[in-house]
Amino acid sequence: MNQPVKLGIAGLGTVGVGVLDMISRHKDLLAVRAGRPLEVVAVSARDRSKPRGGHDLSDMDWYDDPAEMARSAGIDVFVELIGAEEGAARLAVEAALERGLHVVTANKALLAVHGTKLARLAEDRGVALNFEAAVAGGIPIVKAMRESLSGNGIRKVFGILNGTCNYILTKMDTDSRDFADVLKEAQDLGYAEADPAFDIGGHDAAHKVACLTALAFGTEVSLDSIYIEGIEHIQLQDIRNAADLGYKIKLLGVALETDDGIEQRVHPTLVPKGSPIAEVDGVFNAVGVHGDFADDLMLVGRGAGAHPTASSVMSDICDIARGVVLQPFGVPASRLQPYKRARMRAHEGGYYVALELFDRSGEVAAVARIFADNNISIESIVQRGPASLSVHEHHDGSARDTAPFILITHDTLESAMRAALEAITEQGHVAVPPRMIRIERF
Ligand code: HSE
Repeated sequence: MNQPVKLGIAGLGTVGVGVLDMISRHKDLLAVRAGRPLEVVAVSARDRSKPRGGHDLSDMDWYDDPAEMARSAGIDVFVELIGAEEGAARLAVEAALERGLHVVTANKALLAVHGTKLARLAEDRGVALNFEAAVAGGIPIVKAMRESLSGNGIRKVFGILNGTCNYILTKMDTDSRDFADVLKEAQDLGYAEADPAFDIGGHDAAHKVACLTALAFGTEVSLDSIYIEGIEHIQLQDIRNAADLGYKIKLLGVALETDDGIEQRVHPTLVPKGSPIAEVDGVFNAVGVHGDFADDLMLVGRGAGAHPTASSVMSDICDIARGVVLQPFGVPASRLQPYKRARMRAHEGGYYVALELFDRSGEVAAVARIFADNNISIESIVQRGPASLSVHEHHDGSARDTAPFILITHDTLESAMRAALEAITEQGHVAVPPRMIRIERF
């Protein structure tokens, strides 16, 4: 029998218990597939008295401090399932790598903020830094990009990378419910992060984009360069308008190579109904990649949850057990290129614009003139009839009817769109600030 792989698991929350479930359920299968038995010999968590999914931990060494476990436990692999970019997780992962232990982590924030430095440290020590579970939970996208697509030039990677947002947008659409109402349900069901602002503000998705960008383009990880917009301002009316115009609204993360540099962005996006990404609903995640030889591919699956995430953690552990040590971002860490940021104002695409236009003659003509002056070509227009009229105070002090005026543009420059919306607001054509959502046509 080959020597067992000795594991130390730091963090025994949902995912940690999921990993213990998998090891106990598939002990023999894993030993055959990995070529060596897997043995958890050490664990670290804050509270020793908490039940951990009914698993008996009495034979394992218990550490209150994960960094101490990294420094002194008799282990081959340090499995970090604590989370957060600073504090215990970072100290422990750095200590493990310094000591020359292989590291497996599900920590997207840690990778998004310190990924380049940690990858270099792992390379110096000749050990693995595997993070399949950090990006889109149970979807094996890191392996696909790092290994299966290694012969491809990649121009674009995009995805639905936050299950909470996808659940909220799906429910608003299918049940005609408001944002706040569905958010509360997502929290009650335990989908949202402890601080839901992290999900709905787009920050969780941005961490995953940062990792995907480095994998796609071989660049240093650059979280700060990501343009981030969340779904807080999406109204039920926008979802209905989008549906009427043949689109669904999704929170997308996109990394794209352009002439201006690399665009990284997270924002609500109109995607054409019937496109594969538009059909990914509920808590499901999806990642699409365009490889110049493989062409388009898309992986769909569960982006969170104990067992899907454990599945990815285990894939990383099995690689190490087999003696496979890959470069964390698919190229030697020492050869990761500096990141060149494309300006968001140089972004080109279609736009959905919703205006609460004052209902008097000449307003539509004035707005059309502003778009024309900014070189923006309009693809379709929907003006709602009297049923959706409402009364707002005009800037001259009088109360006036307003009516929703919705339009979709052909591809245009973001800078032109921002200038047009500023002019529409400043010239007093609208009662409330315009809402603008970008369109991604596949
Ligand atoms: N809170 C995340 C989501 C899961 O809703 O997808 C982990 O990143």
